[in-house]
Amino acid sequence: MTSLLEVENLRVDFPTEDGVITAVRGVSYTLERGEALGIVGESGSGKSVTSLAILGLLPRTARVSGSVRFEGSELLGRSDNELSSYRGRHIAMIFQDPLASLNPVYTIGDQIIEAVLAHRDVGKDAARRRALELLDIVGIPHAAQRMHNYPHEMSGGMKQRVVIAIAMANDPDVIIADEPTTALDVTVQAQVLEALEAAREATGAALVLITHDLGVIAGHADRLCVMYAGRLVEQGTVEEVFYTPRMPYTLGLLGSLPRIDARTHERLTPIVGAPPSLLDLPSGCPFRPRCPLAQPICAAEEPALFGVGKGHSAACHFHEKLINAAAREIFQ
Ligand SMILES: Nc1ncnc2c1ncn2[C@@H]1O[C@H](COP(=O)(O)OP(=O)(O)OP(=O)(O)O)[C@@H](O)[C@H]1O
Ligand SMILES: [Mg+2]
Repeated sequence: MTSLLEVENLRVDFPTEDGVITAVRGVSYTLERGEALGIVGESGSGKSVTSLAILGLLPRTARVSGSVRFEGSELLGRSDNELSSYRGRHIAMIFQDPLASLNPVYTIGDQIIEAVLAHRDVGKDAARRRALELLDIVGIPHAAQRMHNYPHEMSGGMKQRVVIAIAMANDPDVIIADEPTTALDVTVQAQVLEALEAAREATGAALVLITHDLGVIAGHADRLCVMYAGRLVEQGTVEEVFYTPRMPYTLGLLGSLPRIDARTHERLTPIVGAPPSLLDLPSGCPFRPRCPLAQPICAAEEPALFGVGKGHSAACHFHEKLINAAAREIFQ
C-alpha cells in the first residue's frame, strides 16, 4: 500500500566555490496518514534541507535526486507552479522563525483569511469565521480582537500560533514543522507544541516534527529518524529507539538528556567533538571520529541501515554491542 508521503533515496548536493557540499545523502522514510514522525539531529545534519527539498523550496543551484511521492505521485522535478498547488493545501510548512512566514504589513486576521481563501471557494464572511475558529483552536485568547493585530504587536509564541493557524487553514494532509519552538522561550515552547497538537487533532494531519531536542520528540512523535551528516542513522518507533537505541550517536544523544526518573546526581554524558564537514566527507562511518566503539572497519566502510527490530534500523557495524548498553558506560 502506498504511504501518504514516501521519501526515497533523497540526495541533495550544493555546488559551491570550495567544492560540492552533499547535504543529504540517500535519505528514505515514509509517513502514514495521521502519523507523527520526529526528525532529530545536530545542527547541519541535513534536517531542513531534506524538508525544503520535499517542497521544492531549495535554491536553484541545488542538485536534487531520488524520489518524493505524495499519495503515490512524484513531486521531484515538478515545476514551481505545479508544486505550489501542493504547498499549503496538501503539505504545510512551519519554520523556526514565525516572522519569516508572516507579512509585517498585514493584520494577522487578513493573513489567515487570505490563507483560507487561497484554497477554498468560500465567501469573505465564512473565511472570517473560519479564521476565528482557527485562532481559537491554537489557543489565542480574545481572537476577535487579535484579528486586528499586526505581527509586531504579538509575542513570539503568539506569532508562532498564528503561523500554525495559517498552516491549518487549508486542512493539509501533512504539516512539516522545522524547529517550530527553537526560537522561543522555554516556557512558551510547551504551549506552542500544544497548539500544534490541537492543530493535528482538528485536521487529522500527519506531522513531520524537526528538532534537535529529543525531549520534544518523546512527547509528540510516534516514530523518529535520527540524522547525522546527511544520512538517517537510526529509525524506529519512539519507544524502541528510546529504550533500545542501536547506534552510538543516538545513545549519546539520549545520554545527554536528563531523565525524569534519574537519581539526582547521575552525570549526563555529552558527545564530545563536532559533526564532520560535508565537503569531502571521509570514507567510512561519519560518526567514527567521535565514536567510542570505532574499529578499523568503521573507517573502511560506511555502515548501511541494518534492520535491528520490527520497523527499527540502525547504521552501525556494532549495533549488537549496544543491546542493553548504557550511555555512561560507553561514553566515559
Ligand atoms: N544553499 C546552500 N548552499 C550550500 N550549502 C547549504 C545550503 N543550504 C544548506 N547547506 C548546508 O547543508 C547542510 C545541512 O543544512 P541543514 O540546514 O539541512 O541543517 P539542519 O540539520 O537543518 O541544521 P539546524 O539544526 O542548524 O537547522 C549544512 O552543512 C549547510 O551548511
Ligand atoms: Mg534546520
